[in-house]
Amino acid sequence: MKKRIAVLGSTGSIGCQTLEVIDRFPDQFEVTGLAAGANLDKLARQVAKYRPRVVSIGRSEDIPAFRAMIPGEVALTAGVDGMVEISVAEETDLVVTSVTGTLGLIPTVEAIKAGKDIALANKETLVAAGELVMALVREKGVRILPVDSEHSAIFQCLDGRKREQISKLILTASGGPFVNKSLEELATVTVQDALRHPNWSMGRKITVDSATLMNKGLEVIEAKWLFGVELDNIEVVTHPQSIIHSMVEFVDGSVIAQMGIPDMRIPIQYALTYPERQVNDFPKLDLLAVRELSFRSPRTGDFPSLSLAFAAGRTGGTMPAVMNAANELAVAMFLEGRIGFTDIPVLVEKVMANHTCKPSPNMQQILQSDSWAREEAKRYAGSSILKKV
Ligand SMILES: NC(=O)c1ccc[n+]([C@@H]2O[C@H](COP(=O)([O-])OP(=O)(O)OC[C@H]3O[C@@H](n4cnc5c(N)ncnc54)[C@H](OP(=O)(O)O)[C@@H]3O)[C@@H](O)[C@H]2O)c1
Repeated sequence: MKKRIAVLGSTGSIGCQTLEVIDRFPDQFEVTGLAAGANLDKLARQVAKYRPRVVSIGRSEDIPAFRAMIPGEVALTAGVDGMVEISVAEETDLVVTSVTGTLGLIPTVEAIKAGKDIALANKETLVAAGELVMALVREKGVRILPVDSEHSAIFQCLDGRKREQISKLILTASGGPFVNKSLEELATVTVQDALRHPNWSMGRKITVDSATLMNKGLEVIEAKWLFGVELDNIEVVTHPQSIIHSMVEFVDGSVIAQMGIPDMRIPIQYALTYPERQVNDFPKLDLLAVRELSFRSPRTGDFPSLSLAFAAGRTGGTMPAVMNAANELAVAMFLEGRIGFTDIPVLVEKVMANHTCKPSPNMQQILQSDSWAREEAKRYAGSSILKKV
């Protein structure tokens, strides 16, 4: 029987690569639902090709225009409610969550409640609400299959081994486009500079997060929840070649690493075919061409976002949701040219400092904290705490 898959964020980087993987295994996968935001032309082409039963777009007012762009009897819906409808649909087995930001939280939670397995790309869901989401995963007995290359690597290194056997997770970081830039140079980098990632081609928000090292911070919190490992036992190592995707050190001192070329289709495919491995035609790793694998400490002094994420993760409660929301806002403002690159962590830190953290929050408190952080971040846009406005 075919695995029936819904893709949230189908027009994005992970969404399109997911569909590329699905294309290679037409006997094994079927697309049951697609959701996207504003890229209606691309979505219309996907609808014509995959013929899902239900499709969601960003805004309900665009439904009539979109209806005219697609063939056949597709059910159309919109917004977060639309993504939820797709996530819980009877005919779906697995939901790929590849929208960006906290936008993915409610659809993911509702999919889990409906008993669906999740191929999780949307790391912000676990950052904002990891405790709640993992409790729900256990209650419903569903699988969370990591799509993030680092978490897929750890998942593969663990291969079902017990938590007690892990002594440490080692997450690798490429260091992003500014790995060799001085602090003075960082103050003047442009949006175009930040979007030029050396190893990975990704959406704009995660590419900026990679440049600030916030992406690694979000991944540290994601790893804590996915694998049940405390932050003191998670180490980040800069590895500019992006060949080792992450490692696990076990209690006997043995370290297992997962390697491969930087190609997101590999972890996506593993999440879709798990626990099987399937032959594909993707380029393979040539170690003699790579020649050298190097490692160094992340420059946390010059890239404070990583430390902010560790701090938020250690504080727990609503703090990671606040940090994540403030960062989303700050990155959006940077992409709009309203603040400078080095203002991003300044703004996030300020919002975190003003937050009264609530321990063990429920979903409503998490969503309220997220909204509060966005408003708070907006207040600082243009303020004198930011260097370049
Ligand atoms: N890209 C990677 O290599 C990578 C690796 C690991 C993890 N991830 C994670 O995967 C997630 C997606 O990243 P990405 O790089 O694929 O992002 P992306 O290229 O920016 O794609 C985001 C997707 O979300 C959709 N979207 C935006 N606003 C929406 C709305 N209001 N309603 C419904 N859909 C909306 C976009 O649709 P439109 O384009 O149609 O507006 C697009 O399909 C992020 O959480 C990221 O951290 C990405």
